[in-house]
Amino acid sequence: MNKNDSYDLVIKSPGRINLIGEHVDYNGGHVLPAAIDKKITLKLKKNNSTHITVYSKNIDSEFTIDLSNLNRSSIEWHNYIIGVIYYINVLKPNTVKGFDCYIDSNLPLGSGVSSSAALECGIAKGLNELFNIGLTDLEIINLSKDAEHTMVGTKCGIMDQFTVVKGKKDHLLLLNCKTNDYETIKVNFGDYKLVLLNTNVSHNLATSEYNVRRGECETAMKTISAKYNDLQYLCDVKPDVVKEFKNLLSEKIYNRALFVSKENQRTLKAVEAIQRNDLQTLGALLYKSHEGLSKLYEVSCTELDFLVEYSKKFDQILGARMMGGGFGGCTINLIHKDFVENLIEEISIAYRNEFSIDLTPIAIHIGDGVKI
Ligand code: GLA
Repeated sequence: MNKNDSYDLVIKSPGRINLIGEHVDYNGGHVLPAAIDKKITLKLKKNNSTHITVYSKNIDSEFTIDLSNLNRSSIEWHNYIIGVIYYINVLKPNTVKGFDCYIDSNLPLGSGVSSSAALECGIAKGLNELFNIGLTDLEIINLSKDAEHTMVGTKCGIMDQFTVVKGKKDHLLLLNCKTNDYETIKVNFGDYKLVLLNTNVSHNLATSEYNVRRGECETAMKTISAKYNDLQYLCDVKPDVVKEFKNLLSEKIYNRALFVSKENQRTLKAVEAIQRNDLQTLGALLYKSHEGLSKLYEVSCTELDFLVEYSKKFDQILGARMMGGGFGGCTINLIHKDFVENLIEEISIAYRNEFSIDLTPIAIHIGDGVKI
C-alpha cells in the first residue's frame, strides 16, 4: 500500500493532553483535557471485497483479515481496528464492508497522549463516513471505549475517546464524566506554555495496575455507599465524607478513595483559577495532583517523580505532574515561555545522567478533534 494511492477519504485524529483530573473519569468525576495538534492520519478506500487491509507506515507493517473473522489478534495495534469494527457491527450489523487503510502518525506511541483513542476514534469516524453508517459522536466515543475494554483489555474511562472526538482548538474541555456534559474553556496562559516531557519509558504495569485501581475504587465505593446509598460514584463523595471511613477501609483503599475525591475537586478549582487568570494557583494544583498520584494512588514511577521534583527548582515553572494512566509516558509542565529552552537543555542532561535515557520534549498546541 502506498500513500500516493488514491483514497476515498482522509481522517486526521489527534492525541490528547489532560491538564488535571487524572483517574477520575471512571469514577464519575471532572476532567480537563484537550486535543492536540499531533495526529494520526488515516486514508481509507473501499476495496469491494469482504476483507480489510491495514498498513501502518510508522511500524512498516500490514495485516489483512476477513470481515467474517473479527477475532482478537496477538498483535496489539490490530486489536484497535478489529475492536472498533466488532462494536460497529454490534450497533449497526453488516454496515462495514471491505476497505484498505493507510496509517501514518506523528503522535508518539505509548506516551500517555492517547494514540490508542486516536486510532480507535479515527477509524470509527472514517468508517462511519465511508459506509454512511449514521453513528452519532457519542456512539463513536462509546464503541471506541468498548473496543479498548474488550480487545485491548484496559478498562478505561471515557476521557480519551471523548476528547479525540469533541476537542476544540485553543480550548480545554471541562467534561463531567458522570453525565457526559461538557463546556469548553478558552485557554490563554499569557507568557506561560504547556510543555510535555516524555520519559520514554512505558512500564508494563500500565494495563494491569490500571484495572486494579479501578477495582480498588469499586471496593471503596461498596463500603461508602452501604452508608450513603444516594452516592453512586467515588467522585460524588466529598473528601470529608471519605475521611469518615478511615477506619473502615484498608489504608490502601482509603488512600485511593481520598485521592480520587480530592482530584475531582482540584479539577474544578483549576477551572476557577484559569478563569480568574491565577496561574500560580493552577500550578500549585498540578503539583498537588502529582503528589496524590504518586503517594496515594501509586501510579507514578521513578522517572516521572524525578522530572516533577526537578522542575520544582525553578520559579519559571509554575506546576508539573504526570499525565494519563501513569507508569511512564509524559509529565505536563506549565513553564514561562522564555525558560522553555533552558529547562529542556538542563533537565535532559539531568535525566540522562540519572537514567541513561533521552528525554523527548513535546510542545503543545491545542487543536480540534477528529476531522474528515
Ligand atoms: C488513561 C485512560 C483514561 C483515564 C486516564 C487517567 O488515559 O484511557 O480513561 O482514566 O488514563 O486519567
